[in-house]
Amino acid sequence: MKALVADRVDAVKPAEEANAAGAAGGSDPGFFHREIEILGELLPAKISGRITQVVGMIAESHGLAAPIGAQCEIIGRRGNRITAEVVGFREENAIIVPYGDIRGVAAGDRIYFCGDVPRVKVSTDMIGRILSSSGQPIDERYSTPAERQNYRRGGAAALIPRGSRRMPIHGSSINPMHRRRIERPLPTGIRVIDSLFTVGRGQRLGIFSGSGVGKSTLLAMIARNAYAPVSVIALIGERGREVREFVERDLGPEGLRRSVLVVATSDEPALRRLQAAFIATAIAEFFRDLGLEVILLLDSITRVAMAQREIGLSAGEPPATRGYPPSVFAMLPKLLERSGPGVDGSITAFYSVLVEGDDIHDPVGDAVRGILDGHLWLSREMAGRSFFPAVDPLLSISRSMSDVAQPDHYEAARKAIFLISKYREVEDLLQLGAYTPGTDPKVDEAVQAMPAIEKLLRQDRLEVSSFEHTVHGLKESVRPKAKAVDKPVARVVAARLAGGKRP
Ligand SMILES: Nc1ncnc2c1ncn2[C@@H]1O[C@H](COP(=O)(O)OP(=O)(O)O)[C@@H](O)[C@H]1O
Ligand SMILES: [Mg+2]
Repeated sequence: MKALVADRVDAVKPAEEANAAGAAGGSDPGFFHREIEILGELLPAKISGRITQVVGMIAESHGLAAPIGAQCEIIGRRGNRITAEVVGFREENAIIVPYGDIRGVAAGDRIYFCGDVPRVKVSTDMIGRILSSSGQPIDERYSTPAERQNYRRGGAAALIPRGSRRMPIHGSSINPMHRRRIERPLPTGIRVIDSLFTVGRGQRLGIFSGSGVGKSTLLAMIARNAYAPVSVIALIGERGREVREFVERDLGPEGLRRSVLVVATSDEPALRRLQAAFIATAIAEFFRDLGLEVILLLDSITRVAMAQREIGLSAGEPPATRGYPPSVFAMLPKLLERSGPGVDGSITAFYSVLVEGDDIHDPVGDAVRGILDGHLWLSREMAGRSFFPAVDPLLSISRSMSDVAQPDHYEAARKAIFLISKYREVEDLLQLGAYTPGTDPKVDEAVQAMPAIEKLLRQDRLEVSSFEHTVHGLKESVRPKAKAVDKPVARVVAARLAGGKRP
């Protein structure tokens, strides 16, 4: 693998050199050089304009003949520089959104066009680090040269030779004809996923639920348990406290050791929150282009859509579907189509979707569901019963499962889902003791199998489960029992609920 990888990075620097470069930056880690490089095409003359108006979070400039998406720099009165992006036009004037705080921008300030291909420098040294929305480290670890010298990545990540490359933030999706097919399973270590919704390498799934039902916890479990050398995790629009909880409690040092985290908290400007999603994807693309099987976890795509909504509305777009302007629905496929199988490696992606009021028909949720290859729906009712992970098997689907699971595994999964649906049909009757065993043999079978199925699907936050063990457990749980038990669980449950003795 080493030789293969070495061909694909621009520079493989020895450790000392990289450390020396970092040390020169003093308190600024300078680890990854300048965060975002803006590579302008060579222009015959410098294009510039002047700020004419500032309203809310946007500015207008006159005379700046730059296209939409162009990266610009506003030079303030005191020489301060603010990076910004052109997001629209109003008659002759360009509408500009700054990446940072708009305070300090004044009418009359000069604005320069810098280029329209923003890139981020991605390096294998990013593994184990927490980065800001512009790709700079924000963790306090490895801040001295000595610490950096001692810094060693763990596990499979240690096999990746060091190197770096400038990746376009708005990279293009791969020609579908050059993509590999999704053929091999990616063990996630989560039993409900591996057994009933087996994920293929390069598959993209949504994790849907209202707030507080377990999306972030499930993503962290995947990052810790899944079989992949690197996970890129983007936390977007969360509160600062939640980020810390995620890193320290859910992900833990083991998970962090083979992850790259990109964080844009809810208080950051909309453009930064949006950009964080694109940068995280560019980082995943870098590792995929090395031929690796990468996992991309984005929490949450809804907050990314909200950031785009903020930008779209302030640039004067009309609100279309439930307050979301059309640009949101144009941005989503551009972002989501970049993950998936590559020519060699792959990006298996999980995007969490926050569904307001547990509404299945949320417009962002609908759009995301249409693009991805499956979704896991987390049920508030199950979480309320402390059934974690609260994946509802009857509302979830993995479109690649039939391609990646063995036929007998696939059969067993179909059967488990069938038994769960049969059980649900009579669940109320069972609790009331109003179901008479023997009425429907399928229901009897479901009632019998349910304890084993529930045991399989429940999984503690820190529990790890191998793929083989999970598949074996699934097959066992749905195997018809040799002889119909004379005392079906239902009758026992009904009798207990009625306060009587065991029959
Ligand atoms: N696998 C699990 N085991 C135990 N508790 C869980 C599990 N998943 C989620 N929880 C509980 O649910 C709460 C909310 O989970 P979280 O992942 O923060 O939800 P969301 O990201 O959907 O808002 C957690 O604080 C935890 O108490
Ligand atoms: Mg969350």
